[in-house]
Formats: sequence, structure tokens, C-alpha cells
Amino acid sequence: MLIDLEGIDGCGKSTQTKLLQKKLEEKGEKTLILKEPTNEPHGQKLWDVLKGKMKATNEEILDFFVLDRKQHVKEKIKPALEQGTVVLMDRYYYSSMAYQVAGGLNVDYIRNKHDFAPTPNIVLVFDLPVTTALERVHGHREADEFEKEDHLEKVRAAYLNLKDDPIVKIVDATRKPEEIFQEVWMLVSEVMNG
Ligand code: TYD
Repeated sequence: MLIDLEGIDGCGKSTQTKLLQKKLEEKGEKTLILKEPTNEPHGQKLWDVLKGKMKATNEEILDFFVLDRKQHVKEKIKPALEQGTVVLMDRYYYSSMAYQVAGGLNVDYIRNKHDFAPTPNIVLVFDLPVTTALERVHGHREADEFEKEDHLEKVRAAYLNLKDDPIVKIVDATRKPEEIFQEVWMLVSEVMNG
């Protein structure tokens, strides 16, 4: 069982990941939370790019994510799945299908680059307005964030564009964490029992 939790920065996916882990453990499942980008060398390079310390084209950025993910799949994700562990991904290749699409790349092109990666059983996309998400990140909206806001609007739109993919579930993330989790658990139980 492979569950991918997605959404723009500040959407609350980390909280939901922890709630889901707790619930699954209560049900007797073995679980593992994994996060992308990783702290391995390719992931480190990505953090340099994301923090503006290193310049790269969108194509190069995608290649870094793919290399980082290849190693992650081989060393962590596949071994855990083979042991019957429920793997909770705090971002996976669906992040590339939103963020790198917002950067200008084609969604099918990105998907096709991930034939090495196990397909999730379910992808939960926590959706909320960009302004709300930014307020959550900073406690308030910062004046110099228009550029970032503009970019995140594109990311949000790219996520919403995935709604016809049968494994993608768009979850309204403007609600209280407990309320959101009720829906998360309903969706995950459906997949696990079905
Ligand atoms: P994020 O999980 O938001 O890190 P943190 O919780 O430490 O802030 O991920 C960092 C950034 O990487 C985020 O803005 C989204 C971006 N990202 C991509 O652009 N493509 C990808 O494939 C992944 C996994 C992340």
C-alpha cells in the first residue's frame, strides 16, 4: 500500500500524514513516512536550487528530482513495500506533475519519466486557496510574496488538473484538521478494503 500526500506549501499535508500514520498503527499496520526531496546527494542539490543558491533550467530541475526519486524508490520505497509496510509519501512524483508543470513542462512527459516508480494506490491532494496557504506558512501574508503567490497559483491549477486521474482525490483543506482527516480516513479505508 502506497499513499501519496500532496498539495501546495502550507496545505497541511504534514499534519494529515501524521494523523494517518497514527490511525494506521492503531489498526495494526506497519507504516513508514518518507519525504521528497530526500537528504541524499541529489536531494541536497535540489535544496540548493530551491533555495536559490544554484541556478538550473526546468528540465535540469526535473532531472534532479528523477535521479533523487530513483534512488529513493530503490533504497527505501520498494524494500518497505516488499515487507508489507504501508508507505506514506510526503510528496512523490505527483509533486513533479504539479510543480514542474507550473514551471512549464508537459504533464505526460513528466509522468512518462517515472515508469520506474511504483504507482500509488491513492494520491490525496490537499487543496486550498494560495493566500490561505501563505497565511498559514507565515502567520500572515508577506508583502514581497507576489511572485511566489503567482507561481503557487499555477501549481494549484496543475494539481486540480489531475482530478480525472482515477487515483487522485482532491480534498478540501480549508477545514479543521479533524474534519479533513475524517474524509482522508474514509478515502484510505475505501482503497484498503477494496
Ligand atoms: P516541501 O515538502 O514543501 O519541503 P518543506 O516541507 O521542507 O518546505 O518541498 C520542498 C519544495 O520542493 C516544495 O516547494 C515543492 C518542491 N518540489 C518540486 O518542485 N517537485 C517535486 O517533485 C517535489 C518532490 C518537490
